[in-house]
Amino acid sequence: MIFDILTLFPSMFEGAFADSIIKKAVDNGFVSISTHNIRDYSDDVRHKTVDDYPYGGDAGMLLKPEPLARAITAARERLAGKTPLVVFMTPAGRLLNQGIVKELAARDSLILLCGRYKGIDQRITDQYVDMELSIGDYVLSGGEIPAMAVVDAVTRLVPGVLGNMDSAETDSFHSGLLSHPQYTRPEVFEGVSVPEVLISGHHANIKEWQRQKSLEITKERRPDLL
Ligand code: ADE
Repeated sequence: MIFDILTLFPSMFEGAFADSIIKKAVDNGFVSISTHNIRDYSDDVRHKTVDDYPYGGDAGMLLKPEPLARAITAARERLAGKTPLVVFMTPAGRLLNQGIVKELAARDSLILLCGRYKGIDQRITDQYVDMELSIGDYVLSGGEIPAMAVVDAVTRLVPGVLGNMDSAETDSFHSGLLSHPQYTRPEVFEGVSVPEVLISGHHANIKEWQRQKSLEITKERRPDLL
């Protein structure tokens, strides 16, 4: 999986992918991640301007279409021979869920476009963007953190990235339910014991307890998932 990220703030991504599962996925060649500064595609050599006032007089600034068109075209050229999906991160997009993450993980490459300011010119959305994605009903300062969330969630599903020890199969949402509670040692902590069934060694009973707990928690917290 190749992630090609278009942003005004490439340095925001430096720490995000420098540790843990994503770093290992990159080091082992399962995914490749590159960031590209949209400002480098400005036609304004002196000031590298990439934004402008919206027609209609609304407050705030928009990303201009020409630098974005050039940045997306250059990303497509970098990914020649692949079939990248251009994904624009915006609170007005489809709400990201594990089903969409699975769809994205099935692609060979993703171009993630991060907006800033009040958004981007609609002609870019209409002519260059394949999918608009939101990570929740709240407004962030830009698409960078949402793009990091997409890279993380998708990378976990790339075959080979997670070993058995850290399998996606026990993640919340994998089975369509929230995950059951988990316990580790000590067996008694501050007077509270681990549920009896988990130390019974009875595999079928443990599985059934976990399934029941998943159902209970999902019913209570996220009945919309059932
Ligand atoms: N940009 C700003 N807020 C966002 C959100 N909630 N999801 C995706 N992109 C965004």
